[in-house]
Amino acid sequence: MSFKDKIDKNNLPQHIAIIMDGNGRWAKEKGELRVFGHKNGVTAVREALEASVEIGLKYLTLYAFSTENWNRPQFEVDALMELLVNSLNQELPTFQENNIRVNSIGRMSDLPDHCQVTLQSTIDQTKNNTGCTLTLALSYGSRQEILDATKAIAEKVKKGEISIDEINEDLFSQNLYTNNIPDPDLLIRTSGEERISNYMLWQIAYSELFFLPIMWPEFSRETLFECIYLFQNRERRFGKTSEQL
Ligand code: FPP
Repeated sequence: MSFKDKIDKNNLPQHIAIIMDGNGRWAKEKGELRVFGHKNGVTAVREALEASVEIGLKYLTLYAFSTENWNRPQFEVDALMELLVNSLNQELPTFQENNIRVNSIGRMSDLPDHCQVTLQSTIDQTKNNTGCTLTLALSYGSRQEILDATKAIAEKVKKGEISIDEINEDLFSQNLYTNNIPDPDLLIRTSGEERISNYMLWQIAYSELFFLPIMWPEFSRETLFECIYLFQNRERRFGKTSEQL
């Protein structure tokens, strides 16, 4: 029996965030180049997205490229950017047919021009879709995001638009790149590493964390269903006692 059938459809998470890790190691194990792992990683992205649409998940956010990833060999960076552009172009009909809205977080201006053009065009063409919002974290770093929010808020205080007393969690959240997305209910990381690696530090304050031993290219629809099932069987107390829930 698939985990899909065990999921309580009335108690779905709203937002799943994923750190896709282990493409390089998966490829190396097979005696292949790292880029082979990234190519197969795209297949896993498709699996995760398909499962999200099937189950009616509203938000899926994927860590596709961190600010630190710019330090990889130029060959690998170029290959990742090409994979991104090709995948976006290729999947546009799928996005439209499945009512998927594409969104991005991070410093878009760091991306090569042609990536920015393709990404922006995909975002524009899917902006009226109302099903799943697929957010790609690209040239994303959470500390940078928090600093950008702090600067934006400081600027508003300086201009007299808000007072210091008005700075609260809601206002801070509204100044993050994720201002139009709820906080993740689950954060999944593949590859056996148990780190957050500068991903959505503010937003995951109450998220359930899942560290999976499989490599990202091995991630399937069933993996996502299993994580949702396990999530539903965890108790989220938000600081309260079990009896108060
Ligand atoms: C981590 O594996 C993966 C990445 C840094 C990039 C993820 C990119 C893709 C799956 C392809 C393009 C994305 C989209 C959204 C179309 P790693 O290279 O860090 O693996 P390692 O830890 O084994 O070295």
